[in-house]
Amino acid sequence: MADSSLTNLRAVFIGGGNMAEAMIKGMVRGGWAADRIRVAEPDPIRRSHLASTYGVDGSDDNRAEAADADMLILAVKPQVMPEVVPPLGEALAEGTLVMSIAAGIPMRRITAWLGREVPLIRVMPNTPALVGKGASAMAVGEGVSEAQTSAAQSILEGLGVVETVEEADLDAVTALSGSGPAYVFYLLEAMLEAADRLGLEPDVARRLALATVEGAACLAAETGLDPAELRAKVTSRGGTTEAAIRVLDDHRVHAAIRDAVVRAATRSRELAGG
Ligand SMILES: NC(=O)c1ccc[n+]([C@@H]2O[C@H](COP(=O)([O-])OP(=O)(O)OC[C@H]3O[C@@H](n4cnc5c(N)ncnc54)[C@H](OP(=O)(O)O)[C@@H]3O)[C@@H](O)[C@H]2O)c1
Repeated sequence: MADSSLTNLRAVFIGGGNMAEAMIKGMVRGGWAADRIRVAEPDPIRRSHLASTYGVDGSDDNRAEAADADMLILAVKPQVMPEVVPPLGEALAEGTLVMSIAAGIPMRRITAWLGREVPLIRVMPNTPALVGKGASAMAVGEGVSEAQTSAAQSILEGLGVVETVEEADLDAVTALSGSGPAYVFYLLEAMLEAADRLGLEPDVARRLALATVEGAACLAAETGLDPAELRAKVTSRGGTTEAAIRVLDDHRVHAAIRDAVVRAATRSRELAGG
């Protein structure tokens, strides 16, 4: 990398969609000069949106944009990666860090497409990143310098919480936090259906349910207590919560959620080709 000081790095996004925008928003908020960020994106409407909202310019020329990058962020959908990545291999300057947020694409495949070894970081973000409340895990490949690792870490912190894991653990991360928001939405769907049946106003029910999910997560985070212990604290003998939990246990919901997360990890491995 030409310069290890974060604000002097030139970051180039390949793909200027939702995730790229969330990252750009966090970077600009975190002090990156907009003129150190560029976006290669085919859709002129997206480009002008990013230019007018964040002052970030770009073009539709992936190779030309990539040539100037200290850090190249691959932010296209996984299904277009096989056509988008190979032409970038020759364009990249020596030592450019490549950071991929494409779900399920292993580093070895990216290296093969590029046709040469480059410093690589693979990231699994999740959709709450779009509102700065994401949970991302990053796996750091060989040849990535400490300065590059901390630059990547700092960009991802603009999306929310960041953990560093081995690449082999990204399937588990995908199952836990990548797909995780869907499990919470599933729970919310069921809670709101019940609230409707019980005659609560939909808007009131929605506000109460959302605050409950957020509040429960904050309580667990701030007390550091085990979820089982927190649950025991709100479950008095013979009370309402105990009655509810008994129904969940009768339906084996705990086992179903555990098995669902394990299944998601298996599916993630299958999609990555073993
Ligand atoms: N959204 C999430 O919560 C989430 C979570 C985890 C991981 N990810 C990963 O993040 C990546 C991006 O997801 P996203 O939700 O941001 O997708 P997205 O909004 O569809 O963004 C992808 C962007 O790439 C552009 N693009 C398509 N072909 C291109 C090409 N050949 N060269 C340059 N740009 C091209 C698309 O433009 P057009 O629209 O004009 O095609 C679009 O603007 C995906 O790989 C996904 O797996 C996303």
